[in-house]
Amino acid sequence: MEKLEIKESLPPGGGKHNLNDYESVYETFRFEEVFADFSWHTTGKVNMAHELIDRHVMGPKKDKTALIYVDDNRRETYTFDDLRRLSGQFGNLLLKLGVKKGDRVFFFMPRSPEIYVGMLGALKIGAIVGPLFEAFMESAVTDRLADAEASVLVTTSVLKGRVPREKLPKLRHLIIVDEQPDYAEGEVDFARAMAESKEELEPAWGTLEDPMILHYTSGSTGKPKGVLHVQGAMIQQYITGKWVLDLQEDDIYWCTADPGWVTGTSYGIFAPWLNGATNLVRGGRFSADGWYRTLQDEHVTVWYSAPTAFRMLMSAGDGMTDKYDFSSLRHVLSVGEPLNPEVIRWGFKAYGKRIHDTWWMTETGAHMIVNLPCMDIRPGSMGKPFPGIVAAIVDNMGNELPPYSLGNLAIKTGWPSMMRQIWNNPAKYQEYFAVPGWYVSGDSAYMDEDGYFWFQGRVDDVINTSGERVGPFEVESKLVEHSAVAEAGVIGKPDPVRGEIIKAFISLREGYTASEALMEEIRLFVKTGLSAHAAPREIEVLEKLPKTRSGKIMRRVLKAQELGLPVGDLSTIED
Ligand code: PRX
Repeated sequence: MEKLEIKESLPPGGGKHNLNDYESVYETFRFEEVFADFSWHTTGKVNMAHELIDRHVMGPKKDKTALIYVDDNRRETYTFDDLRRLSGQFGNLLLKLGVKKGDRVFFFMPRSPEIYVGMLGALKIGAIVGPLFEAFMESAVTDRLADAEASVLVTTSVLKGRVPREKLPKLRHLIIVDEQPDYAEGEVDFARAMAESKEELEPAWGTLEDPMILHYTSGSTGKPKGVLHVQGAMIQQYITGKWVLDLQEDDIYWCTADPGWVTGTSYGIFAPWLNGATNLVRGGRFSADGWYRTLQDEHVTVWYSAPTAFRMLMSAGDGMTDKYDFSSLRHVLSVGEPLNPEVIRWGFKAYGKRIHDTWWMTETGAHMIVNLPCMDIRPGSMGKPFPGIVAAIVDNMGNELPPYSLGNLAIKTGWPSMMRQIWNNPAKYQEYFAVPGWYVSGDSAYMDEDGYFWFQGRVDDVINTSGERVGPFEVESKLVEHSAVAEAGVIGKPDPVRGEIIKAFISLREGYTASEALMEEIRLFVKTGLSAHAAPREIEVLEKLPKTRSGKIMRRVLKAQELGLPVGDLSTIED
């Protein structure tokens, strides 16, 4: 196993506590102190939007900037009171459409202030929010909306073209956030309906166990699954925002993730606003210049991004970093995929800050394994369990393994932000807890003798491309819809910038011959049918795909062959 190389000592200005402080705070963790400011703590009544926004308006933060939205053409700021009023209007608008507590309100649109206003408004009336990444194409959108039985979709005049309403009988309303000339039956003009809605709205009060957000994510088999989180996730989102992101009163915090993914909600909406921080959102596409301009001009102090983004910034060259001033940055963090030691070293040179890795998943709702600001960083390690979280490396029977043994990364069940359901699929939910007492993550890792965890890979076939989780089954299903494709097997192939790229192996139907034009056509078919990030970058045609006797495509054999590794046990192969 790779031995530990660098140790980092407390970076100047990085956090107020040392690890013992955190642990002792945790041991004496008193809800009445930590959550004293939360209204549910005294009233027993819970509403997420109230805790995120309205609560601050009652105190000194009323006119503090809650949201800074920037892209290449637009810059707007909103105070906590602005967001209270706008989310009240949106909540009232939904009530007028007949939306009730627990109904699913989905969002399919690019980052913009409206998506934040909309999500807050939906949470305020107790609806379940469902974010969809804007790059999704028709079949990805349809599968998710149908499974969730969404009744409202907030979208744009362009993106609604990917929403086949005839296939979605439960979808009653489309709220169109931009202008369009005509509104069809069931379509709502956002600006007009907002103007007609009252700002005052009494939140729908509930409990910590009431559902609040449904994120679709991928496994290695079956369609994407709806991971359901409840309002009580706020406990962990708040405390990790405070301790891991180290959010403090004057911070300008920027999480680069899109709210279509869990990082963009748990840490792009919930953690910062629960902590009353100023939350910066940058819309539009990635560009090194644009990002650096935002860091510099907006005086970002805490920055949460992902390894692929750091690698793209790294490849933009040192000439680029030299042009900008990063002196306001105090704390930099990463999530989503393995953070290369090389990137940490480069980051220290480029920004004068160590990048702090964090590990968690859609299903965990909040940080599990982290580098607290005070911790020594061991480049290549994801850090240690957050105080109160018990993580271990277990074998398939649930036995805990000693340091340096490779095994399943597992978390002792029962943390506040743990998912409570896989939507419509209790059996799938149970699969995560097959080992009694443990949530088994699907990642393989080992732990060193000091309790730092080191990521080694996935146990299953889930692909992580540019930090985005892609299920091979969804891509394979799309591929075989193309008239030329008989069978498809999809794997993640290691890539220096993206972590993994998607490679598809296909066999062709009678009458088709492989050509570059056909491969491009098939790639485009997935890109325009499913989503750009799920389109295979490489397609290879095989005579026949390796299959089990029961007809399942053996992705691990394809992968081993691709990487020139031993193919392992072939006893179940067809012939
Ligand atoms: O394989 C792990 C990888 O991303 C998976 C979770 O993906 P998702 O649910 O989309 O959530 C991403 C962001 C919370 C994990 O099972 N992953 C996440 N963080 C890390 C990581 N791999 C290595 N190092 C990390 N820090």
